[in-house]
Amino acid sequence: MIIGAGAAGLMCAIAAGQRGRRVLVVDHANKVGKKILMSGGGRCNFTNTGATPANYLSANPHFAKSALARYTPWDFIALVEKHRIAYHEKELGQLFCDDSSKQIVRMLLDECAASNVTVEANCGVQRVRKTPEGFSVFTARGEVHAESLVVASGGLSIPSMGASGFGYELARQFGHAVLPTRAGLVPLTLSGKHQEHYQDLAGVALPAVETRVGKQSFRAGLLFTHRGISGPAILQISSYWKPGDDLRIDLLPDQDVGMWLVEQRTARPLAELKTVLGDVLPKRLAQRLCEQWFESRPMRQYREAELEQIGVQLNAWPITASGTEGYRTAEVTLGGVDTDGLSSSTMQSKLVPGLYFIGEVVDVTGWLGGYNFQWAWASGQAAGEVV
Ligand code: FDA
Repeated sequence: MIIGAGAAGLMCAIAAGQRGRRVLVVDHANKVGKKILMSGGGRCNFTNTGATPANYLSANPHFAKSALARYTPWDFIALVEKHRIAYHEKELGQLFCDDSSKQIVRMLLDECAASNVTVEANCGVQRVRKTPEGFSVFTARGEVHAESLVVASGGLSIPSMGASGFGYELARQFGHAVLPTRAGLVPLTLSGKHQEHYQDLAGVALPAVETRVGKQSFRAGLLFTHRGISGPAILQISSYWKPGDDLRIDLLPDQDVGMWLVEQRTARPLAELKTVLGDVLPKRLAQRLCEQWFESRPMRQYREAELEQIGVQLNAWPITASGTEGYRTAEVTLGGVDTDGLSSSTMQSKLVPGLYFIGEVVDVTGWLGGYNFQWAWASGQAAGEVV
């Protein structure tokens, strides 16, 4: 029996069903695969052709290696092509459906049907008891006896889509450690004077900045919001950022801004700094930075050292985020069931034979860009081959 008919649960069901196992997948939501449906702006970024273990966060960075190596993006692409679903690469190996994420859910359900898997929505699991033969699972529709139990109940992000902490509770019930959870791939918030300075820039976007926390950096777009900052570069770095960490944003990562400003002083001595910066940054942002950080004067009035200092600020903007938008808008949950208690090749519990944890409920979290579904498919397949 599998708890959760999301990406990982359905994938596991297919693999187990193909081996002739009798499989029941239950989900408390009124529709299965809700997160698949809403993913990738309705087009599901279903994998990333460049997925490697380095694209995942976990207390044990080696844990994901085995499953990811045995079920690769190309295996999932083969399934997508078998179902004649048209897809395209958006950027950086990210594959999306041409048409709709509904096609991925349809494909998974068709595969389930072909393997005689039973999938039931509106069937929440309330409690589980260990029995000598396996597990007694108490669902909204009565008690079910199962030889093995796969927990694929996902993380805490987007509670309105059926997310629950049930998998973590179940893990603790059976003696597993659960590492602290927090929202990942999530916009960051600003507060106090930081928010006041930038809130009216909401909607201003930069196509390519570089965000950095410690040794981790991402180059992608940034968007100012009413409450803070978002966009792919922020979502990516949010998974590495904790309150109090030093977050730097290089607003012009392809340029040594200091040197460029010194050149501009010679080329355009009468132009004001805000005008010069407005040529390479959104004008509203250039103006705001000049109001907040450096007085805007004609270029010829700056000393070289001053321009170099302005360049340093723009190449490593030390922005003070106060927190994240939380699970309400987060794409994923970091932390979760400690991988120390699981087999990396089968996802089976080392403590309770017949119990498995797969997908987002496990402490393995991918970057933005199709990596999280790839983990769901790979870990689901790993368990489905043995369950
Ligand atoms: P998932 O959350 O999909 O499924 C868990 C299921 O368990 C749910 O259906 C839930 O209802 C059910 N459940 C929970 N408790 C239960 C209980 N007690 N009883 C019965 N059922 C229960 N990733 C990616 O790679 N590409 C993308 O494009 C996107 N886009 C994206 C957009 C948005 C808005 C979000 C929120 C997330 C993404 N993601 C993504 C992340 C991706 O959706 C996520 O990592 C996977 O869905 C995780 O798959 P799981 O099967 O582990 O959990």
